[in-house]
Amino acid sequence: MNQTGKPLLRTLMGSRHSPPPIWLMRQAGRHLSEYRALREKSSDFLNFCYSPELAVEATMQPVRRYRLDAAILFSDILVIPDAFGQGVRFVTGEGPKLDAIADGDPLPAFDADKLHDHLSPVYETVARLADELPDMVGLIGFAGAPWTVATYMVEGGSSRDYQKIRSWAYQNPDSFQILIDLLVDATAAYLGRQISHGAEAVQLFDSWAGVLPPVEFERWVIQPTAEIVRRLRIEHGDIPVIGFPRGAGAQYPVYAEQAGVDCISLDQTVPLDWAAKSLPQGMAVQGNLDNLLLLAGGEAMADAARAIIAAFSDRPHIFNLGHGILPETPPEHVERLCAVVRGED
Ligand code: CP3
Repeated sequence: MNQTGKPLLRTLMGSRHSPPPIWLMRQAGRHLSEYRALREKSSDFLNFCYSPELAVEATMQPVRRYRLDAAILFSDILVIPDAFGQGVRFVTGEGPKLDAIADGDPLPAFDADKLHDHLSPVYETVARLADELPDMVGLIGFAGAPWTVATYMVEGGSSRDYQKIRSWAYQNPDSFQILIDLLVDATAAYLGRQISHGAEAVQLFDSWAGVLPPVEFERWVIQPTAEIVRRLRIEHGDIPVIGFPRGAGAQYPVYAEQAGVDCISLDQTVPLDWAAKSLPQGMAVQGNLDNLLLLAGGEAMADAARAIIAAFSDRPHIFNLGHGILPETPPEHVERLCAVVRGED
């Protein structure tokens, strides 16, 4: 099958599909019993990510179960700080923990060979997936965007208020820029390898983009993203890039215009009519069902899904959530959602 026959890729390249292609952020993972069983084969989450056999299977599980239009590489955004040697670990029930870095700490110089060596199992996973995926299913690679990965590196894990990182960025933007530049180098190199191993599109997750005011949003969210996209285009031509500046609110349009991405992923707070008229005409959008409506299921979920499809009926649209599937979500609700989106319900 010519890859341009895939609904996901055709949509990313600017053509409309009815029904829209569907995939779901965090489609792999704990809401699936088959994932929970597979996950027991490795006590450590990062080792699980670095086991191509297990990562391929985790990627394929939701694609098989729900017949989705895209597979997203099974990995994590924190493999980049792990490759820097920052002591990343996942504590059950507590989320990720890292040895936090602060202004003044020595930063590693960018070492492409070391990075690729550490991440070679991820590239092998991508290559195996490219071989194994059904003909019409697109393969999405991903990375965290520099700002969001930096939040974990500086806060030492998840955070409530992002005080440490925002203080560093405000008080010493010159030294903070060095950290962001390191992440731009690593992320562009990492995504480039995913593409050369068979990823057909890539998504940049900027989960914490929404905590910055406009001037800093431009510097720490838009500029690093635009630089990564620029580098990918040099090596990989028109590879489709999806940007997800979660929580960007009124800053979504400026991101859409300036970050260089082909498709913009909307969180659930973005009003549909506002998005339809405020985003560049013809630009592909992805989203934006509330993951809690998917958890709730029923008619409220079905009605909301239909409203999203109707709102984006005049531009390329990929159906997705506003943020990842929650672990408590019943798989039957995902099945119902797929049926609604496909017009079978
Ligand atoms: O199906 C997919 O979407 C692909 C796999 C994927 C994972 N993480 C697997 C995972 C993707 C795309 C991510 C991205 C990711 N990771 C983001 C960006 C998207 C978002 O959710 O905002 C972020 C911020 C992370 C960092 C991260 N990884 C956190 C905060 C946690 C702990 C919270 C949690 O849900 O447990 C993880 C762990 C993680 N990443 C799990 C999975 C399946 C759970 C680990 C387990 O199985 O025990």
